[in-house]
Formats: sequence, C-alpha cells, structure tokens
Amino acid sequence: MKNIEFNRNFMKANYDSWKKPSSSDQMIGKPAPPLQKAPKQNADLISLPMPSDLEIPHVDLYKALVERRSVRQYSGKTMTLGELSYLLDSTCRIQKVLGDNIASFRPAPSGGARHPFETYLIVNNIEGLENGHYHYLPLTHQLEVLSKKSDETALVESVNGQKFTAGANVVFYLSAIPYRAEWRYGLKSHKVMLIDLGHLGQNLYLAAEGIHAGACAIASYDQEKSDALFELDGVDEFIVYIVPVGKK
Ligand SMILES: Cc1cc2nc3c(=O)[nH]c(=O)nc-3n(C[C@H](O)[C@H](O)[C@H](O)COP(=O)(O)O)c2cc1C
Repeated sequence: MKNIEFNRNFMKANYDSWKKPSSSDQMIGKPAPPLQKAPKQNADLISLPMPSDLEIPHVDLYKALVERRSVRQYSGKTMTLGELSYLLDSTCRIQKVLGDNIASFRPAPSGGARHPFETYLIVNNIEGLENGHYHYLPLTHQLEVLSKKSDETALVESVNGQKFTAGANVVFYLSAIPYRAEWRYGLKSHKVMLIDLGHLGQNLYLAAEGIHAGACAIASYDQEKSDALFELDGVDEFIVYIVPVGKK
C-alpha cells in the first residue's frame, strides 16, 4: 500500500516546490545542457529527405482522430525512407531553437519546451535503409547508424515477448535524458516528462494514419533489455516508451 500511495502522490502536483520559487540548476545560473545527444565520433550519418522535398500526405484530422486504433497486425509492405522521414518530422524534428539551448520547438508540445527525449529506431523494412539500430538527430534531420545487425529475438524480448512488434517496419524507442528537464524544473520535471511522452505517442499514431500505417503504444517492456539495445546507461538516459509502426 505504501508503494501505491507513493505512486499516486507522484501523479499529483503536490510538490512543495510548485508553490515555492523553483530550485533548479537554471535558477543558479548553470548552462543549459544540449538539446540533442551528440552522435558518436566518426559515426556514419544518413541524411533523411527534408520535409520540404516530401509529398506530405494530406490527412483529414478529424478522420485520423476518430479512426485511429492501436494496430498490431502489419501487412509486410515496405515503408519508404520518405515516409520514415515524415514520421520523424511529425513527432520530434527540431523546427526552431531559442537562445543557447534554452528551448527547442517541435511538433509535439513539451513542458518548458525542454523535450528531454531521444529517439532510437529498430528498422525492419524501410526501402533504402539497411535493417539495424539507429539514433535520430533532430537538429539536422539525420540518422546516426548504431548497428546494422537486426536481432528479432532481442527486439521481442525487450518488449516482454510481444511478438507482433517484429512485424512492424520500424520500432520507435523513446529514451529520456531527465537532466534536460531537471535543469529547469528540478523535482517538478518528472511528472511533466511523462505527460510529454503521451503527446509524442499520439503524434506518431496520427501521423501513421497519413501513410496507411498503424502504431501501437507499448509500456510493457523490459527496462534493462531495452536500454541495452542502444547501450544506454539506465541512469542518465533510459527507455521510457516504445511505439512500433507498420504498414496496414
Ligand atoms: C501508455 C500506453 C501503454 C500501452 N502499452 C501497450 C502494450 O504494452 N502492449 C499493447 O499491445 N498495447 C499497449 N497499449 C495499447 C492499448 O492497449 C490501447 O490503446 C487500448 O487497448 C485502446 O485501444 P485503441 O488504442 O485501439 O483505442 C498501450 C497504450 C498506451 C496509451
């Protein structure tokens, strides 16, 4: 019961710090952390087609809102690189930066415009892109190649045996880098980060509708196995949400 109470309290806006002036690294003048995790030195980078060069599908917003469902069965049809570019552009590409890493603006809203997340992909069937593990660079709209190995067993184990994920064209693994938000909001930031994630998920669901694809949010995943897929330390960065997207 103690744990239930603790978790329920976490859901509330009950931190004293909401009432008191904030105590955070920003308040004491520390510089803002980067808005994007830098790629490894000498990493292979792949530039994605820019949104301005894409034929962005026209989706009736109301239709997408009411017809969206969680999709767990995929057709096996190939997804184009342009379609992947469109999915990333619709969720997390940085459109504008404010000041010295003070804020970034992206399609989904985020408390304080901190966007304390990174996007990793397991690519399974995208035309023009080898299957493997990738990290998305939202400032330059590029993919950092992490590995060109694809291991279906590791993918399925990372989502507690949910086999349908292996049929998706691409599986989005969203990690949190909590300090990006803690820097501004300290103890207030953690509840806000989880709220932010819902927006990212919904953007993916709605964007998927535009390319005749479907998404399925996943919260049932194995923390250690998911972190290990992308060599995350589990302390300063860890997976918080997973969304497979596949062609219907
Ligand atoms: C935060 C969250 C976590 C979820 N986790 C899973 C999951 O691990 N596996 C799964 O198959 N569906 C998962 N779902 C999908 C829900 O089961 C689904 O949204 C719900 O059944 C309603 O169906 P609909 O999305 O088609 O309206 C999750 C949805 C959300 C929003």
